[in-house]
Amino acid sequence: MMGASALLVQATTVAAKAYAPYSHFQVGCALLTAQGNLFTGCNVENASYGLTICAERNTIFHAVAEEGPGMKIAELAVVALGLEFPPCGGCRQVIAEFAGPETPIWFLRDGKPVSMTMAELLPASFRL
Ligand code: THU
Repeated sequence: MMGASALLVQATTVAAKAYAPYSHFQVGCALLTAQGNLFTGCNVENASYGLTICAERNTIFHAVAEEGPGMKIAELAVVALGLEFPPCGGCRQVIAEFAGPETPIWFLRDGKPVSMTMAELLPASFRL
């Protein structure tokens, strides 16, 4: 474990780098892998709105590119500047692909770190 606060600080720092000229909604994600590596990422929007990628998926895809297909998420934090929320539904499904039911997902509620497990965030996730 890296510590929720450290992970949330990393997510907040990278959120400031978001490319979000359309929504102005800056999101950052930080994840620690089972191997102990830290990855961060932000949302990157596009003039063709549907091509936008969320901070969480951007981070996870980069982690896979670095560690390979065995990459596992030990814990993950998501922060949006000025707003507080857990990961969007689509990203929950992508997190679930690389996480277990007990994997903690950290976000802020009233300025304080809170965590929910993947089982709580996405019960009955789709698996092949
Ligand atoms: N966004 C994320 O990066 N993560 C989420 O979990 C929710 C939404 C981004 C996508 C888009 O750039 C902006 O926030 C508004 O939806």
